[in-house]
Amino acid sequence: MKTENTVWHDQHISKQQRATIKGQRPCLLWYTGLSGSGKSTVANAVDAMLFAQGKHTYLLDGDNVRHGLNGDLSFSDEDRVENIRRISEVSKLFIDSGLIVSTAFISPFASDRDMARKLLADGEFIEVFIDTPIDVCEQRDPKGLYKKARAGEIKHFTGIDSAYDVPVSPELHIKTAEFSIEECAAQIVAYLQDNNYLG
Ligand code: ADX
Repeated sequence: MKTENTVWHDQHISKQQRATIKGQRPCLLWYTGLSGSGKSTVANAVDAMLFAQGKHTYLLDGDNVRHGLNGDLSFSDEDRVENIRRISEVSKLFIDSGLIVSTAFISPFASDRDMARKLLADGEFIEVFIDTPIDVCEQRDPKGLYKKARAGEIKHFTGIDSAYDVPVSPELHIKTAEFSIEECAAQIVAYLQDNNYLG
């Protein structure tokens, strides 16, 4: 840490109070999966379902955050680690404000996902593995990036010449090649319901 002369200030209003007034239990749905696996699509569908139920949510999306807060970061291993570190810290603040937060980042390294989990209290981190085979992602190729990566025009592309650590025991394992977007989203909302996050 470079901030030696700072002192933590306790706030008058607690996380619990902020959550109670919203009628929900704050948590972080941490979507992880390959590019084109459907993280953002499913996360958006879940977010819309929760919003329709009157829940207070916020969605942080990889591509969007890389336009702003993390616009200075590349796709080197080192910068991907910093990308996830910043997202984890921002998510923690949003959780503190009582929100149900979703993050949709490839987050390829298990060690970074574990770091995010450890930043939060027990039960707050929900790992959602968007498990779509790479050949399906490549077939979808919504942004034309696999084509470019195969042609050698993009270096360090996840699943091609950059690693992806498959989650070992995610809270949720979602198979977008086998279910519709609505069905996938419903599986996630059901988990939140069953585990008392929705009040
Ligand atoms: S992460 O690895 O650091 O978690 P993040 O989710 O923020 O990645 O960004 C991934 C998105 O950036 C992809 O969906 C894709 O649109 C784009 N992208 C551009 N270059 C790369 C690359 N080399 N590897 C993976 N994704 C890339």
